[in-house]
Amino acid sequence: MNDSGTFWLPEAASTVAAEVDGLFYFVYWASAIIFVGVVAAMIYLAYKYRRRDPNDRPEPVEESRLLEISWIVVPTILVLLVFTWGFQTFVTLQTAPPNAYEIQGQAYSYGWNFEYPEGAQTTDELYLPADRPVQIRLSSREGDVLHSFFLPQFRVKQDVLPNRYTSVWFEATEPGTYELFCTEYCGVGHSQMLGEVNVLPADEFDEWVAEAGINEDDLSLVELGELQYQRNGCQGCHSLDGSAMAGPTFQGLYESERAFADAGSVEADDNYLRESIIEPDAKVVEGYGSGIMPSFAHLSERDVTALVEFIKEQE
Ligand code: CUA
Repeated sequence: MNDSGTFWLPEAASTVAAEVDGLFYFVYWASAIIFVGVVAAMIYLAYKYRRRDPNDRPEPVEESRLLEISWIVVPTILVLLVFTWGFQTFVTLQTAPPNAYEIQGQAYSYGWNFEYPEGAQTTDELYLPADRPVQIRLSSREGDVLHSFFLPQFRVKQDVLPNRYTSVWFEATEPGTYELFCTEYCGVGHSQMLGEVNVLPADEFDEWVAEAGINEDDLSLVELGELQYQRNGCQGCHSLDGSAMAGPTFQGLYESERAFADAGSVEADDNYLRESIIEPDAKVVEGYGSGIMPSFAHLSERDVTALVEFIKEQE
């Protein structure tokens, strides 16, 4: 099944896709046929019963039992058909098979973290085995906002909330690269809250997941800082190459003179960097808004220190 999709729907790459698409096209064609029929009848009747003379008066209308029954029964059958079909598909989408491979997904402003049972962790990249049901358990980071997890090629979409788990399941049918979108308008970085889904053949996936587990204790502080920079989505707002994004670049930040929106200034030393991670609105750099960056006070002491060391390296 290597289609590239249709005008209305993207490529179909999961086992539930055929069912979802069938229902979509049934509603689509039923609507199109009814629309054409209604408009054609309207035009025909408007023409047939047009006023030919200022003295024209319509004849009293005789009721037609058959006509009235038919416009009650036919739409009722159509609506019940769509309901039954839709409900069955909904149940399929909600009921993960018990043998599903479980991945934890966490959304934050603005990115996605995934954690696999074998210990591997990825950011903005989801790895999956083909031909195996996968369940992704989702939540938004504590204190963060609502996001929505949307995999168009697999036809699944689920709201992601802080303080609550939701989940989706599906079975990918073809190895390949697919898209992940956030479809809840969540803030300034919403349009960059994208990810990539890599579906690997089952044996390649097993190899990948066995190798991808990283032991953080084995990393140096700068290496850990780089990992945290990616994992916490810092790259969504802070570039390393000097370009301005929603937040200031990290390039040349350390020991530079920072001018603030409320007129003060300070040299960016270790304590300043630390404060900006824990309490971002304490000192807002001139030209940037307050209330944009969430606090990262939940990071461990070692993670914060690692981030500071990583920023210091960006000369
Ligand atoms: Cu997260 Cu939009």
